[in-house]
Amino acid sequence: LLAEQPYRTAFHFQPPQNWMNDPNGPMCYNGVYHMFYQYNPFGPLFNLRMHWAHSVSRDLINWIHLDPAFAPSEPFDINGCLSGSASIIPGGKPIMLYTGIDTENRQVQNLAFPKDLSDPYLREWVKHTANPIISLPEEIQPDDFRDPTTVWLAEDGKWRLLVGSQRDKTGIAFLYHSDDFVNWTKSDSPFHKVSGTGMWECPDFFPVWVDSTNGVDASVINPSKRVKHVLKLGIQDHGKDCYLVGEYSPEKEHYVPEDELTTTTLRLDYGIYYASKSFFDPVKKRRIMTAWVNETDSEADVIAKGWSGVQAFPRSIWLDKNQKQLLQWPIEEIEMLHENEVSFQNKKLEGGSLHEIQGITASQADVKISFKLANLEDAEEMDASWVDDPQLICSENDASKKGKFGPFGLLALASNDLTEQTAIFFRVLRKNGRYVVVMCSDQSRSSTKDGIDKTKYGAFLDVNPQQDEISLRTLIDHSIVESFGGGGKTCITARVYPTLAIGEEARLFVFNYGTESVVISELSVWSLKKARLNVEKP
Ligand code: FRU
Repeated sequence: LLAEQPYRTAFHFQPPQNWMNDPNGPMCYNGVYHMFYQYNPFGPLFNLRMHWAHSVSRDLINWIHLDPAFAPSEPFDINGCLSGSASIIPGGKPIMLYTGIDTENRQVQNLAFPKDLSDPYLREWVKHTANPIISLPEEIQPDDFRDPTTVWLAEDGKWRLLVGSQRDKTGIAFLYHSDDFVNWTKSDSPFHKVSGTGMWECPDFFPVWVDSTNGVDASVINPSKRVKHVLKLGIQDHGKDCYLVGEYSPEKEHYVPEDELTTTTLRLDYGIYYASKSFFDPVKKRRIMTAWVNETDSEADVIAKGWSGVQAFPRSIWLDKNQKQLLQWPIEEIEMLHENEVSFQNKKLEGGSLHEIQGITASQADVKISFKLANLEDAEEMDASWVDDPQLICSENDASKKGKFGPFGLLALASNDLTEQTAIFFRVLRKNGRYVVVMCSDQSRSSTKDGIDKTKYGAFLDVNPQQDEISLRTLIDHSIVESFGGGGKTCITARVYPTLAIGEEARLFVFNYGTESVVISELSVWSLKKARLNVEKP
């Protein structure tokens, strides 16, 4: 089976087969986690007549595959059940809001609720008879109005929700309010809008504590400025999930971000990662986020595999101490899968060296590593033309391009002779007397196969290498490599399709191709056991 399906994941969520895109309505109800997702039950390619597939879990690791929760069936969703969000309303009851494509091919917003709250899996869902509860606003194109957020309660006692949209290339998040979840009124002015950004998909809006790594429920009203608010937007034209940190002032009914949405706006992930959605987990008082990670192979490959799309490994998210960006970290449940730990401390990696990590299953592994650097005065100056474009730095300087400090990092999913390898690495450069750390994920040699996207990804990592070690955590899972730099300040997710470095053949190395030595102050690697992922028959 492995030979036929070398790209199936061991612990990243995926359906047994067919097409999957956005996560929808993630939530925890009575100790059971629910994951719904955009699903085409008829095949491995995208089709607008979307269904909401449904899986449940008690640990966010092992998932049970259930029948779809929503299929197109009514005039208000007959042409597709698109993305949406769960909300837990007073009394602890879940409700679901989702976009339907109606008989006229207009996007409208619909309400649904569980048929039987005593079913621990909430298998059946009832679409409200008042649907659509929100119809297309005037002057909005019929296919530019979708992806309702989780609702939140504002100080005036009314519920709020956002819907993504655009008008003449101005990205818009419309704000609605309601007393009863059925009758919704649009605010005169949008919650937020930015010209030139195009359609905003899958908005996500949530509070974060300024002084705690815990999560906050969406309806917490700012207790003496202890929270800031994050607005996450999927920029459809670029396929990127960007976010803003700012202040929500319910009196003014709009959002005031600290920075403008531009091409350098913070991204949740600088690789392939889209349509993310977060939820508050009351069990562990944390905010968890997941996202769709698309394939980067060809359509013919997708058809041959019979499936497309995985979900990123769930991440805990919270506000960094600097209060300017989020930190993201794989949820602690991953430790349930850990086995065969290999670790060492204080190992010097000379310039130009390569060291294999043996004794682990390199095709499904969790890697934690910290690098310590000395004598940074010798770092190279950053080329003026590279300024502010880490993606360009990484694409013009792949893992084979020697520098002084860097490239150093990991070679994941490497074949015996290193023909295949996915390199996740750092470079430390000098700019105006300060140090800049660039983090890259280089897929250019990830596969001997042609006709697949091997884009190199890059981003800055906001750490000061004179004071701080440079840490990297990487989750490797057959065809996905998810990397977290600096404790989750910068994340890069990549899809790869090795032909040699598969299963037991895959190898893992640490490397330093710079001329200066670096010290690995600490390294731990675990093999990961296989999770029970939606297997149809146990
Ligand atoms: C984002 C998206 C959403 C839409 C869904 C359709 O990937 O385009 O805007 O609701 O996917 O499947």
